[in-house]
Amino acid sequence: MTRLNPKLRPNSYLASSDPTDVARMEDRTFICSKEKGDAGPTNNWIDPVEMRGTLDRLFDGCMRGRTMYVVPFSMGPLGSPIAHIGVEVSDSPYVVVSMRTMTRMGVRVWDVLGDDGYSVPCIHSVGAPLEPGQKDVPWPCNKQDKYIVHFPETREIWSFGSGYGGNALLGKKCLSLRIASVMGREDGWLAEHMLILGVTSPSGQKSYVTGAFPSACGKTNFAMLVPPAGLRRWKVTTLGEDIAWIKPGKDGRFYAINPEAGFFGVAPGTSKKTNPNCMAMLRENVIFTNVALTPEGDVWWEGMTERLPKRLLDWQGQPWTPDCGRKAAHPNSRFTVPAAQCPSIDPEWENPDGVPISAVVVGGRRSDTVPLVLEAFSWTAGVYLAATMGSETTAAATGRVGVVRRDPMAMIPFVGYNMADYFSHWLKLGRLAENRPRVFCVNWFRTDENGRFIWPGFGQNMRVLRWIIERCQGKASARESAIGWVPEYESIEWKGLESFTPERFRTVMAVKHDEWKRELNAHDELFESLKDRLPRELQLRRELIHLSLGA
Ligand code: GTP
Ligand code: SPV
Ligand code: MN
Repeated sequence: MTRLNPKLRPNSYLASSDPTDVARMEDRTFICSKEKGDAGPTNNWIDPVEMRGTLDRLFDGCMRGRTMYVVPFSMGPLGSPIAHIGVEVSDSPYVVVSMRTMTRMGVRVWDVLGDDGYSVPCIHSVGAPLEPGQKDVPWPCNKQDKYIVHFPETREIWSFGSGYGGNALLGKKCLSLRIASVMGREDGWLAEHMLILGVTSPSGQKSYVTGAFPSACGKTNFAMLVPPAGLRRWKVTTLGEDIAWIKPGKDGRFYAINPEAGFFGVAPGTSKKTNPNCMAMLRENVIFTNVALTPEGDVWWEGMTERLPKRLLDWQGQPWTPDCGRKAAHPNSRFTVPAAQCPSIDPEWENPDGVPISAVVVGGRRSDTVPLVLEAFSWTAGVYLAATMGSETTAAATGRVGVVRRDPMAMIPFVGYNMADYFSHWLKLGRLAENRPRVFCVNWFRTDENGRFIWPGFGQNMRVLRWIIERCQGKASARESAIGWVPEYESIEWKGLESFTPERFRTVMAVKHDEWKRELNAHDELFESLKDRLPRELQLRRELIHLSLGA
């Protein structure tokens, strides 16, 4: 790592990965349940016996010449009844220091564990052994073989060949989503790819909201939202920006906690304008990965400043100038920072009881079809909306960027069991909870005929959030559409954004029947692939929408 200029960015470092190891690898991620059907058609499955053979071969001697670190960590506050402990064995010092920020990590975990405590074994190697005398490279990884493997029945995680993000920081997606989703299914709770935020209304009433958006679709931004002019008497506070564990409480409400201690967020697009809280949070104690380096020893990425720097070293250490035709930072470049440093952090963020959720918001990146906001008619309708969510893919995972894929609950790469069973689990938990949250769907990404975003987004999303909160409080009005309740122009606060005319609002809210017929066909494709175990409510719900559209 490169130490950044301590005057400009105290106690902060820049790591540059190998250009072949820059994102989560979904096609190398495996759920090795005994039965293929328990992993389901949305997961890669390999027979666990066969996989153990492969891993035995790969891990044999894989750390030779390196230091092996043993990293005990807690997801959730140390010693709290909701926390789960893992022990990651890794040969990557980058992973070790990142885990120190992202989890509660260190010797105190042994005390909690005692002699007979339970922990999830997490085995990680970059898969690049060193022969005696062989010179190391800055970012060792295995270019031939990468495996991110989960054994849900024995709750084990084995990761080989990559040092990057969710492939290697095993407390995050592997433990807190894939393995935790399996635990939650058994014990009656949910492990979700969700932000958690608090909203305080001008009258001082506090509500909490969770939001499921796919990778690089705005969870960090939404979780740290700063209300714009016209809505300054509202306040948003942050509890989490990537993962929520949601448990039903005795009062019939859902309670959410963030099991992480830090944020591993997308750098490009983050600026004082789009996310001032985030920029303030990144002042010190940050590990940056794959951003550009300025001649003064600070960092830069696309979208950070309006004026482009004259020269930089790009994320691969090559000289960069504005006209060189290359991006300075990798599109999936990230920062790793302690959550406690966030200026908008909510005082309840470490409360092991969690916070009661009024609304669950889901939303993908859609240039058409899906309106700015709508509210589901019911819990079942909400589960349908979430289950059929689509999104244009981003740089957060390797593969083609910008194609629409179904991403139920933003969890397609993160559910550790059969997706259809996961839908049933959602339906069941909602049925059991008398005061369950309302479900909303948002889309900040609709574009006009010139391909530009219609909705200004970022802080302006407060206008949508306000409507959501006021719906939960029974204050805001709505109109019925074929797919859910939608706001009228008049029920949104426009003070400070008078330029957003009723005409523009109509374009960002339009539910076009031809687009929705296509959309329902795509839902059907998803359902077809899950048909063995698909809950009947969802199929019926689809038919109902189909008929409501007059199709
Ligand atoms: P992961 O950490 O990958 O799970 O993703 P995330 O959901 O936390 O992503 P993040 O908030 O970092 O998303 C970053 C991307 O979303 C950047 O490209 C932002 O510019 C874009 N973005 C965030 N909010 C908005 C918005 O309101 N409107 C638009 N148009 N873009 C947004
Ligand atoms: C995501 O891709 O959703 C992330 C980043 O939050 S990673 O931890 O690398 O999966
Ligand atoms: Mn994520």
